[in-house]
Parts: sequence; structure tokens; C-alpha cells
Amino acid sequence: MSEHIDNETDHEAAAGGEDYPIRIRGLTNAFGDVTVHEELDLDVRRGEILGVVGGSGTGKSVLMRSIIGLQMPQSGEIEVFGHNITEAEPDEEIGVRNRWGILFQGGALFSTLTVAENVQVPLKQFYPELSQKLLNEIARYKVVLTGLPEEAASKFPSELSGGMKKRAGLARALALDPELLFLDEPTAGLDPIGGAKFDELTRELTDTLGLTVFLITHDLDTLYAICDRVAVLADKKVIAVGTIPELLENEHPWIQEYFNGPRARAATATHERGKALDNDASGKA
Ligand SMILES: Nc1ncnc2c1ncn2[C@@H]1O[C@H](COP(=O)(O)OP(=O)(O)OP(=O)(O)O)[C@@H](O)[C@H]1O
Ligand SMILES: [Mg+2]
Repeated sequence: MSEHIDNETDHEAAAGGEDYPIRIRGLTNAFGDVTVHEELDLDVRRGEILGVVGGSGTGKSVLMRSIIGLQMPQSGEIEVFGHNITEAEPDEEIGVRNRWGILFQGGALFSTLTVAENVQVPLKQFYPELSQKLLNEIARYKVVLTGLPEEAASKFPSELSGGMKKRAGLARALALDPELLFLDEPTAGLDPIGGAKFDELTRELTDTLGLTVFLITHDLDTLYAICDRVAVLADKKVIAVGTIPELLENEHPWIQEYFNGPRARAATATHERGKALDNDASGKA
């Protein structure tokens, strides 16, 4: 498959980059003797929310770090918007780096900076010429966009609840108006209601801002509620990608256990109930 990418003309590569913001071929990642990924392939379609699942330690976060160029792979190709991340010139890399936003696992806000200052970090990095007045305005806008009250902008992370911290992290991820958003376990640690609200926000922002989302999660409710497709990491590869009904047909034991287990059935029931309520409400309107 990798020859396919190699043989494309620039024009075709650009077109591929439009339809598939992320294309991965033959990715191998290892730490010492431990191979995390081996000949892994994955395509992410433009405009989709792709859920990425897999047992703990299967390499979901490492995969994300590879795509954003923080983890140099042993071999393989990773294209983001048609640019080869693993071979990019430094300035070429910058041209792509400001087209994505990242919410790292655990949130990772700078604790000594206010929420607004956190949001301004990537802005200052990529647009050092912006005035402080404009930086403040953009930060305030991003804070409100993620459903936080305006006052949250001047608060420190320690003054926020877990759910508010996630929103603040999302505001920072959206600082550069990205086309591509990486979310690593965004609802981990939130109560089910907070998690569901965050999911709703993700879906709404994806649709209104035209984002493509790479969403790592353990949260079955999130998968059912907002993911267009789900990629399953196991055996050092992406062993399947598809809608949940498609994955239910897959015989792989991990997939069966995960999507047909008791927790999955509970998530399906919640999702079906939600849809029924929606239909009911729209019928009455
Ligand atoms: N910098 C590193 N050095 C050495 N080993 C690493 C490094 N980063 C990750 N690993 C190893 O790579 C494997 C995959 O880690 P990764 O963090 O991607 O898992 P994950 O699927 O995100 O797990 P979780 O669901 O717990 O977040 C693990 O065995 C981990 O110990
Ligand atoms: Mg992880």
C-alpha cells in the first residue's frame, strides 16, 4: 500500500490530503525491544469523528503522538493533509502544525497560567505579531465557544471543576481554528452527565466548524453517541475500522467482548432511549 502513496503526483497527494486528512501506511513504533505498532494502516476521512479504541497500553496515545510528529516511528509513512510528517522539512511541518489542535490525555493545562493565557499559548507561538488586545479577544471567544462562562477566562486551572478544565483544554485546542482535532480520552474522569455534555459539544463543534476529529476513548457512550466510525487497535495494528453495526459483525474476540459485553449493551440501550426521546420531542413540535 505504501507504494501507492509514493507513486502519487503532488496533485493527487494534495487531493488525497483533502479527502483523508490523515493517512498512515506500514507504521512501526518500538521502544527498545517492545514493539507497539507493526505495519499499522489507517485512513481518517474528512469531516468524520473517528473513535479510536483498544485496551490500555495498545498504543493509542503513541499513535496520536506519531501523527503529530512527537514520536519518530521506526518505519512507515504518515501523511497529514497530504504532507509526509515523518519526512517533512521543518517549515513544511509548521505549515501543517497550525492546522490541528490537541487535547492531551489528562488535559495538561499550564497550572500557573489563567485559562485565557493557556488559550493564548499556541496563538503566541504561531502568530507572535498579534497584539495583546487581540489575543485577549480571541481567547475570550474560544472560552465562550466551549460553553464556559466568560469569567472562566481569568481563572486558574486549580479553580475549575474537572469538566470545566476539559472545556478549557478544548478552548486551547481550538485556539488556531484547526481543521483537525485530536482528543485523547476527553471524557475520562467526568461523571456520565458531564461526559454526555462534552460529547454533545464535540459533535456540535465538529459540525459547525467542519472539523475532522481523531478521538481516543474508552467511553462506550461516546462511541455510540457521536462517532461516525470506530478504529480498533489490537495485535499492534488497526484490526478493524467501521461503524458500530459493522464492527459487531467482526469475530475478533476483543471486538466481541468490547462491543457485545454487558457495558456495551447498556450503552446501546441508553443511545436507543435517547433517540426515541428525540423522535418523541420532534413529533410533538
Ligand atoms: N516514551 C516512551 N518510552 C517507552 N515506552 C513507552 C513510551 N510511551 C509509551 N510507551 C509504551 O508504549 C505502549 C503504548 O502506550 P500508550 O500510552 O500509547 O497506550 P494507550 O493505548 O494510550 O493506553 P491508555 O489507554 O492506558 O492510555 C505502552 O506499553 C507504554 O508503556
Ligand atoms: Mg493513552
